[in-house]
Parts: sequence; C-alpha cells; structure tokens
Amino acid sequence: MSVKIAVLPGDGIGKEIVDEALKVLEVLNRDFALDATWEEGDIGGVGYDVAGDPYPEATQKLVKACDAVLLGAVGGPKWEPLDKPLRPEAGLLRIREDLGLFANYRPAKVHDQLLNASTLKPEVISGVDILVVRELVSGIYFGQPRGIEELPNGEKRGFNTLEYKTSEIQRIARKAFEAARLRSNKVCSIDKANVLESTEYWREVVTELHAAEYADVELSHMYVDNAAMQLIRNPKQFDVIVTTNMFGDILSDEASMLTGSIGMLPSASIGVDYAMYEPIHGSAPDIAGQNKANPLATILSAAMMLRFSLDRADLAEKVEQAVENALNAGIRTIDLAEGGDFVSCSGMGDAICKELEALA
Ligand code: NAD
Ligand code: IPM
Ligand code: MN
Repeated sequence: MSVKIAVLPGDGIGKEIVDEALKVLEVLNRDFALDATWEEGDIGGVGYDVAGDPYPEATQKLVKACDAVLLGAVGGPKWEPLDKPLRPEAGLLRIREDLGLFANYRPAKVHDQLLNASTLKPEVISGVDILVVRELVSGIYFGQPRGIEELPNGEKRGFNTLEYKTSEIQRIARKAFEAARLRSNKVCSIDKANVLESTEYWREVVTELHAAEYADVELSHMYVDNAAMQLIRNPKQFDVIVTTNMFGDILSDEASMLTGSIGMLPSASIGVDYAMYEPIHGSAPDIAGQNKANPLATILSAAMMLRFSLDRADLAEKVEQAVENALNAGIRTIDLAEGGDFVSCSGMGDAICKELEALA
C-alpha cells in the first residue's frame, strides 16, 4: 500500500538532518518494498520567508492530506526580531495544536556503545531506557491569558497561565499507562503539586485514573525539581515519565544527555487523527550549514513513523538495527566522538544506508 509523507525540513540543520532520513527511506523503498512517497512543505522561518507565515496555508493542507509528517527543526537568530506570532516557534506550536498532537513520546535509550560519550559515569547510565510522555498542546504553552502589558505605574509585566483540564490530564495519563504496560510497567508522574494548583489537580486526576483503570501499573509521583536531580543521580529508576508540556520539554533535553547527545533523541507526537515525527533538538544555528549535525535523532524519528503511522514495525526494526550496527562499527558524528574519528552528517546517513542495505 502506498503511503504519503509530508516532509517539513524547517530551519538551520533541519534540511541537513531530514535529507539523511530521506536517504534511509529511499533505501527502504528500493530494497525493502516500502512504498512511500513524500512532498516537501515549508514550516518555521522558511515558511515566513516564503509565505509570510511560519505555518503557511499550503503546509496546513499538505499535512492533512498525508499519512504522517516528518519535521526537522525550526528557529534561528534571523527571525528572533519578528513579532511573536510570526516567529518560527509559533509555527511549530500551531501545527501541533492544529493537528491535535497531544501526546509527545520522547524515548531516551542509552546505547552501550555510547556509554563513554555521555558526561555521566558509565555505571550510572548503562541500561537506561526512559520514555518521556510529554503533554504537547496545553499547559503554560497555550494557557490564556498571556502577554506583556503596561501597568498603571509605567512598569510592564509579562505573564502566562498554567492550566490543565480533567480531560487533558486523563488522555495523556492514559497514554503513559498504556505505554508502561508494554514496557516495565512503571509510571512516574512529574509535577509541582506542592506549589501549583494546576499540577496539584494533575496529580489528583492521574491518581484517580490509575485507581480506576490502571491499578496493575506501578505509579509514583515526583516533584519536578527532585526529578531533575534524580535523572542525573539514578536515571535507571525511571521507566515511563508523564508530565506537563513545559516540564517535559526541559526534562527530555536533560534526559538526552544520558544517551551522549541531544542528537540521539527522536520523538513522536500523536493525536487522534494525525501524527508528526521530529527530533527533540532544535535548529542548532551554531552548527547549521556545516554538515556536522547528528542525523540519528531524525532517522530514529522516521523509524517511529514507520512503526506508529505506516504500520511497518518490521522496517522500524531494520532502521534501528542499522543504527546499532553503525554505532558498533565505531561510526560517530562529532557530538559523540570522544575526541576520536568522526564522520559528517551525510557520512552518518550514508553509513546507516549501507548497514540497511546489508540487512536486505
Ligand atoms: P538546539 O537544540 O538547537 O541546540 C542546542 C545545542 O545542541 C547546540 O549546541 C547544538 O549545536 C546542539 N545540537 C542540537 N542538535 C544537534 C544535532 N542533531 N547534532 C549535534 N548537535 C546538536 O537548541 P537552542 O540552541 O536552544 O535553539 C536553537 C533554535 O532552535 C532556537 O530558535 C529554538 O527556538 C529552536 N528550537 C526548535 C526546536 C524544534 O524545532 N523542535 C527544538 C528546540 C529548539
Ligand atoms: C521542542 C522545542 C519547542 C518546544 C520550541 C521550539 C517551541 O523546544 O520541540 O522541544 O518548546 O516545545
Ligand atoms: Mn525543547
């Protein structure tokens, strides 16, 4: 069956890393009977440059006509002076909201071959396999009111609103419990219930849902400040983490360093009708255009797309195996190199394609 993918490279390293994922999909088409086509669209700063909108109408139509979306990254200094709604990041938030992508899965799995690439001790991180389930379309990112306003005394204030409704908490907690049942059956819900009412309520709803429907899953709760510390002290205690939009953003970047590099962490953003796949990292303006970004997070995001949207778990496994084999062969981009030899972004993509061909 033919499948169609909307490909949105975006800004900075976005095009470099997405090109490598597309090479991998080409090998799957040629040697593994994947029948995928794709069409590129604009998002982020590129969307603004081309169409005056970081989430242009043409892209809105394209993504809704496809089976899945593969996105690179958005943002960069060039667009920072723009009004907020025109900035690349606004485009990313709008596509997530427009497609209803409420569940963001960010797996942080430590590969044994990279134990020494992390800044943490090998014995602390060996065997780490964490799934961060981040709420993606609510919380402080979307709460109203928000803004920057002038006060009567001439001072200004910036403000945002953190809120969660029952249904929003239930649907993300459900996803976390269901994911846990397929893993080590443990969920840690992370909040700031000791200070913030919105997450006090989050804890209450998670606890009730657990008792009513998921009592077989081991549930714990942790305050976010402690969680940030525990992730470094003893990350092996975690299986599935479920948390709010902003805490999930921060903790997943932190968790990525357990694996050696933020360039290793893929993600899947899933809603009821649509799904989008993207690395957790950004557009890395500091290395953009230099062919040295790590494309593995994007290639592994494409693997998640094969598994969750294209019904090709068999091919997802092949891609993941090819990544393992390339790492076993000592292939590293500079972010993982530990001072040794390294390949370019396209060199890593080529190495994965070669390993994949060997698995055909
Ligand atoms: P970033 O993730 O882009 O970069 C942080 C650091 O990690 C940089 O030193 C960068 O070089 C490095 N890095 C990131 N990805 C890498 C990769 N694949 N290989 C090797 N090194 C990598 O975060 P930032 O610098 O805070 O943000 C830069 C821009 O990206 C901003 O405009 C921000 O808003 C945007 N951003 C976008 C997304 C997204 O599109 N999903 C995510 C995060 C940040
Ligand atoms: C991410 C990014 C985005 C977020 C930004 C760019 C809007 O950091 O995908 O993790 O905060 O969600
Ligand atoms: Mn982030």
